Amino acid sequence: MESQDSKYIGRVLGLMRICCIGAGYVGGPTMAMIAQKCPNLTVAVVDLNQERIDAWNSDDLPIYEPGLLGVVQEARGRNLFFSTDIDENLKEADVVFISVNTPTKDYGSGAGQAADLRYVESCARRIAEVGGGDKIVVEKSTVPVRTAHMVKEILSESPNGHAYQVVSNPEFLAEGTAMRDLANPDRVLIGGGTDEEGRKAVEQVAGIYRNWIPEESIITTNLWSSELSKLTANAFLAQRISSINAISALCEATGADVDEVARAIGTDSRIGPKFLKSSVGFGGSCFQKDILNLTYLCGHFGLPEVASYWSQVVEMNDYQKERFVGRILDNMFNTVSGKSIAILGYAFKKDTNDVRESPAIAVCQRLLEEKADLRIYDPKVKATSILYSLGWTEEEASGRITFCGDAEEACQGTHAIALLTEWDEFKDIDFDGVFDKMSKPAYFFDGRNLIDPELLRKAGFRAFAIGKE
Ligand code: UDX
Ligand code: UDX
Repeated sequence: MESQDSKYIGRVLGLMRICCIGAGYVGGPTMAMIAQKCPNLTVAVVDLNQERIDAWNSDDLPIYEPGLLGVVQEARGRNLFFSTDIDENLKEADVVFISVNTPTKDYGSGAGQAADLRYVESCARRIAEVGGGDKIVVEKSTVPVRTAHMVKEILSESPNGHAYQVVSNPEFLAEGTAMRDLANPDRVLIGGGTDEEGRKAVEQVAGIYRNWIPEESIITTNLWSSELSKLTANAFLAQRISSINAISALCEATGADVDEVARAIGTDSRIGPKFLKSSVGFGGSCFQKDILNLTYLCGHFGLPEVASYWSQVVEMNDYQKERFVGRILDNMFNTVSGKSIAILGYAFKKDTNDVRESPAIAVCQRLLEEKADLRIYDPKVKATSILYSLGWTEEEASGRITFCGDAEEACQGTHAIALLTEWDEFKDIDFDGVFDKMSKPAYFFDGRNLIDPELLRKAGFRAFAIGKE
């Protein structure tokens, strides 16, 4: 690792210095990509959490994302730095990205819907406090429309005499494919002020991305359109999943097959094939939070019909998770009490260790409530994250939840298997061998339609998939 002094070389040479507050799933990979693609810029990623920063400075990164380690190793110590020295790095920066979390508020006004902006606000206050020169402040975190107004006010009322421009640059990467999405995004969106200074700031941020992204993929808008586009994109994506999941319930009742329906409608170029995979439900840190936030905003602006239209997307998602558990109960003689169930996959999607809002949380909580014992295996998620997500301590879990080292071990001796994440390795399981070591009748509930149900039935399972009879 380079010395502290070398971190400021960029400044000395007059090169642009970037500081990103928040070394999470978005800030970490995004800044690693910028540093790799722009060796002439200096990028410092700062975070309050010392343990996280230590992990970013090791080869055991705090998040799992295919291809990330190589990019970090290439740039770290050259023009990419991870530090808890927030003030010093902020002071030195020309451009500050705010990439802190914006969870759903769990207290006071707007609880359960509105975004909690206290971390964004405290970043703005900190930037104003440390001073150090004129800066462009970039909202990377997903925020409600008009948040930039709050950030601007805090900065412009600071008595430090520096000028600030606020720019919105939402991130569209999806976890599990973050590095691919960052290297080759469908578009980069940059929103800013419409006066001359605002346009200059947008240009400067666009200049960073021009190092590897073609001009036609860089979209510029006003601030509010940019903020709202991020919420809208996530709402539309989630709506497609809830729509196909709604149809999956009808498929189960009628004998239609949801994968066949998805294929049939997805070939219509106006609909397109993506985000039509029916599942146990969508998860992840964004979809639910952003739709709740959109719903809250609609309510705030006096648009209750619009709010209730979007809130249905989340309600349908909750229904889908509950329906999955209902199907397990219905088929296992209405009780799983004292039965052992293997949980294959816990992450909210494959190729990530992230469990935020994972459908596995709701499914496991319900199965535990119904007094099932669980044997859980996920290739990347740690037992501590699983327990934390369930709100269980190690002592409480003892005898009820067993963490296993591989899929075969998890299935051994169980009455049923619930597949909840579409990890590729699950396709290679020897289902004949697994079936032999289970209690009979042995059940398989595929929450991702990953395994051919006919293959499972041939092995002897009573197999159930989403949206199939
Ligand atoms: C991101 C976005 O920023 C969020 O708005 C979006 O909706 C989801 O994705 P993400 O990177 O996934 O958030 O969040 P997280 O992994 O929790 O990382 C945020 C980091 O910010 C944490 O490491 C936290 O320690 C840090 N943080 C938070 C600070 O350094 N300072 C703060 O004041 C608050
Ligand atoms: C999402 C957006 O895709 C991304 O643009 C934004 O920046 C952050 O939120 P992410 O949550 O990381 O990304 O993953 P995504 O691939 O969108 O999957 C979200 C959830 O939907 C996962 O639980 C996934 O399994 C589920 N999903 C996705 C489906 O159930 N069916 C599908 O067809 C697609």
